Amino acid sequence: MSLTLKRKSIRKFLDSKVSEGEIEKLLMSAMQAPSATNQQPWEFVVVKNRDILAKLSKVSKGAWPLKEAPLGIITLMREDCNRPVMAPQDMAAATQNILLQATELGMGGVWIGVYPREERIKEVREIAEIKEGLIPFSMVALGYPEDTGISSIKYRYDPSRVKVIE
Ligand SMILES: Cc1cc2nc3c(=O)[nH]c(=O)nc-3n(C[C@H](O)[C@H](O)[C@H](O)COP(=O)(O)O)c2cc1C
Repeated sequence: MSLTLKRKSIRKFLDSKVSEGEIEKLLMSAMQAPSATNQQPWEFVVVKNRDILAKLSKVSKGAWPLKEAPLGIITLMREDCNRPVMAPQDMAAATQNILLQATELGMGGVWIGVYPREERIKEVREIAEIKEGLIPFSMVALGYPEDTGISSIKYRYDPSRVKVIE
């Protein structure tokens, strides 16, 4: 089964730590994402600190998975790039690449939405001490899954959503 079909949001994690090698693979994949004019508008914060993860888990209702996750990655979008209007799409591609790489490593994760919600951006900026010029875009809670959930995946393929032009 392809990675894209195996990936599922994982919100509950085992205690096991994520190794430095695995963290590097997650970041390598993030930075390999496509971006407009190859502008690579991203930077990342790797969060292992439990107190900071607990604070980040309160940024929104949906951020709770960060509380028990062994690892969080905050993706940051540079304001100063070639095509700022395209940068959110680049950041989304980078975020998805982290999730796919996690799946390949037998890990799991969930995307926590931050951008464009001003109040979340502000809170993440304060908690993680993000300097001006970098906009918190997303957070990813990561770790080894309690349950990969593969058996419960529901496929969403729907040919009626597709128009073919021949
Ligand atoms: C932009 C975006 C923001 C999301 N924010 C959250 C969130 O804050 N909390 C959460 O638990 N899941 C969040 N998700 C995950 C979605 O809920 C999840 O992808 C969707 O329900 C489909 O389930 P699946 O990922 O298991 O296929 C987010 C996903 C995206 C793409």
